[in-house]
Amino acid sequence: MPPPRKQHYGIKHASGSLIHYRPPVSAITQRRHSAVVPSVLTFAVIVASGGLLLMIEKGMLNSVETPPPRANGKRFARNNNPAADVESQILQEIRNRTIRSMCGQRNTPNSVWSLSPLQRKTLLQHVLVNDEHRFLYCYVPKVACSNWKRVLKVLTGALANVDVKMKMDHRADLLFLSDFSPEEIRHRLRHYFKFMFVREPMARLLSAYRNKLGEIEAYQRKYGAEIVRRYRKGYAKTRKIAGNDVTFTEFVRYLIDEDPERMNEHWMPITNLCHPCAIQYNFIGSYERLESDAAYVLERVGAPQHVRFPERQTWYRPVTKETLHYYLCTVPQKFLKELLPKYILDFSLFGYSLPNTTTEYCRH
Ligand SMILES: *[C@@H]1O[C@H](CO)[C@@H](O)[C@H](O)[C@H]1NC(C)=O
Ligand SMILES: *[C@@H]1O[C@H](CO)[C@@H](O)[C@H](O)[C@H]1NC(C)=O
Repeated sequence: MPPPRKQHYGIKHASGSLIHYRPPVSAITQRRHSAVVPSVLTFAVIVASGGLLLMIEKGMLNSVETPPPRANGKRFARNNNPAADVESQILQEIRNRTIRSMCGQRNTPNSVWSLSPLQRKTLLQHVLVNDEHRFLYCYVPKVACSNWKRVLKVLTGALANVDVKMKMDHRADLLFLSDFSPEEIRHRLRHYFKFMFVREPMARLLSAYRNKLGEIEAYQRKYGAEIVRRYRKGYAKTRKIAGNDVTFTEFVRYLIDEDPERMNEHWMPITNLCHPCAIQYNFIGSYERLESDAAYVLERVGAPQHVRFPERQTWYRPVTKETLHYYLCTVPQKFLKELLPKYILDFSLFGYSLPNTTTEYCRH
């Protein structure tokens, strides 16, 4: 496990001033990894207040309540909920702003070519290409990526429509940026519309846990068994383990000890998959507002009217606020304090606030 660094975040604020946060001395003298947490919390507050400042600056707080009519607003033509449009735009600006300030830091790779070979490989293998409509989509597992892949297959004619009943083949009939030469990659990065979709990081992890470790035997055998062997007392040397009863806490402990750059894509931090500093995404949609954000993207890339984003599958089990609250509260504080820093960029860059996991809150 790489030792957590003391992090000094410098954030360009709305006013242009630079805020440097240093963890208080008392925090540093505690155990080393817990020293990260105060800066993490403060950072989230800075991000949140930066967003708020921006909204005040733009006079947008009122328009959230009473969105202006957008009679000639072509942008969200498929979307008949103007409030959602305004919210979405605010979110885009917040994301743009935080990403710009974070990516402006020294030593942050600002292009695909300044990433390490491993980082570049991961990124290029996650960017799907559509040449006809000239767009790039960085897919993030557990963020509706199967449905986007369906849409891409319909756009190229590999699939008749998005509702065709079939198991998703995650490779066939899809073009990845990694299939192209550096020159071809450069051209597409420069000229195509680039988008990705994000999701509240802990909800995404819970979804991966429930789906992969809860339901998929191959994952239970490969990851579940390993997790049990590592973290359950008395199992270290057991040879035959089904791995089908991993607890969420055990999963969290496993994540804490893994290298984010080598994790399985279903729980690798979004930032490590899509590198929003290396690629300037034109649009970063939210899983939480999937319907309207997806409609916007389809409009934006000029998809034919009959191509729409699929409905949720019938087997879809949502991660509700209550479910997430329940699972997070089963995890001992000390593990959450180590887990959150690993996903801190997914929280901060995309404008999600850290979950409240105080003892008080979990008592409810
Ligand atoms: C955010 O940044 C992208 C990439 O630079 C740009 O295309 C997009 O228009 C920006 N969005 C907003 C709402 O500022
Ligand atoms: C977390 O929840 C508790 C209990 O509901 C509340 O008192 C506390 O202020 C919350 N903390 C944060 C940081 O939201």
